[in-house]
Amino acid sequence: MDGYVPGEQPQDGKLIKLNTNENPYACSPKVKAAIGRVCQQGLQKYPDPGATAFRICAADLMREELPGIGPDWILCGNGSDDILTIVTRAFVEGGDLVRFPRPSYVLYETLAAIQGAQCDIVDFEDDWSLGADFTAAKKRLRLAFLANPNSPSGTVISPEKVAEIAAALPCPLLVDEAYVDFSETNCLSLIAENDQVMVSRTLSKSYALAGLRFGFLVAQPHIIRELVKVKDSYNCDALSIAGATAALADRQWFDETRGAILATRTRLIDLLQELGFECVPSHANFVWCRHPHHSAKKLYQDLKTQGILVRYMNYPNYGDGLRITVGTNSQIDAFVKSIRYLFG
Ligand SMILES: Cc1ncc(COP(=O)(O)O)c(C=O)c1O
Repeated sequence: MDGYVPGEQPQDGKLIKLNTNENPYACSPKVKAAIGRVCQQGLQKYPDPGATAFRICAADLMREELPGIGPDWILCGNGSDDILTIVTRAFVEGGDLVRFPRPSYVLYETLAAIQGAQCDIVDFEDDWSLGADFTAAKKRLRLAFLANPNSPSGTVISPEKVAEIAAALPCPLLVDEAYVDFSETNCLSLIAENDQVMVSRTLSKSYALAGLRFGFLVAQPHIIRELVKVKDSYNCDALSIAGATAALADRQWFDETRGAILATRTRLIDLLQELGFECVPSHANFVWCRHPHHSAKKLYQDLKTQGILVRYMNYPNYGDGLRITVGTNSQIDAFVKSIRYLFG
C-alpha cells in the first residue's frame, strides 16, 4: 500500500507556513499554565485513560446544540486522525468498502488501505454537492467519511442535507468537523436523531494546538462504548488532556482568535481575486484557488523559493490547485507581495 504523505513540516521556522491549516496565533496562555501544573505534579503516573476532565468540559460546551449530551457521548484521541483511525478499525475489515468524496482528505484512503478495505470514491458535483452515488447501497459498505467543511475546497454541506445523506446511507457516517469552528453551521444535533452519525473535531486548528495532538468524537453512548474497546488505553497523555481542557475553557481567547482569522480570510479572498485567482468560497481557515494563466505547481515551487509554503494538491478526475492557509495579516501581505513579484 501507499503510505499517507503529510504536508511538509520544515522544523527550522524559516518559511512562512501556509500549507497545513495551522492557526497562526499562539494558543491561550491558560494552556501553558495548565501544562506547567501537570509538570510540577510529575509525570510518573499514567494519565486518565478516559480523559474525563476534558469530556466533562466539552459536554458542557456542546449541550446547547446537543441537549442530553454527557461525557459518555465523547471519545478523546491523539488528534482527530487518531479518532478516524479508531473508527475505521472498529467498523471496517478486509474486503469491506469505505466511501468518501473526492477531492477531500486524503488520509481516508490510507485508513481504508490499512484495514485491507476498498475505497468507494464519489466525485463531488461541480457545485460541491454530493449526488445519489454517495448514498447508494453497496454490498460490504461499512463506513462513509464526509469532511464538512471539506478540505481542500472549504465548502460545506448544510446540516439538513447531511441529515438526508445519513438517513439514506446504509452504513455509519463520520462527519469530520476539523474546520467547523470557521463555519456557520455544524452537524452536532444530527447525532441525537440518528445513531449512525458520528462527529469528529480537533483542537489543532481553531484552538492553535496542532502540536499538542488532541481531537475527539461525539456519538451516542452505545457507539462510544464500543469504540473505547478499540483505542489504545492511554491514547491521550497527561499534558495534552490538561492543555486541551484549559483551551476549551478559555472562550475569550477562542472568540478573539476566530474573529481575527475570519477577518483575514475575507481579506485573503479579496486579494487573491484582485490577482486574478478563482477562489472557492471558504467556510474554513484556508482558501482553495486556481489561476487561469499560471500553473499551480509552478506557483507552489516558486513561492517556496521565496520562503512561502502553500499546499499544492492534484486529484484524479478533478485536477490541481493551491490551498492557502489563512495566516496573520502580515503573513498574507508577504504572500501577496511574492505573488505580485512572480507575476512580474
Ligand atoms: C479534514 C481533516 N480532518 C482531520 C484532520 C486531522 O487533524 P488532527 O489530527 O490534527 O486533529 C485534518 C488535518 O489537517 C483535516 O484536514
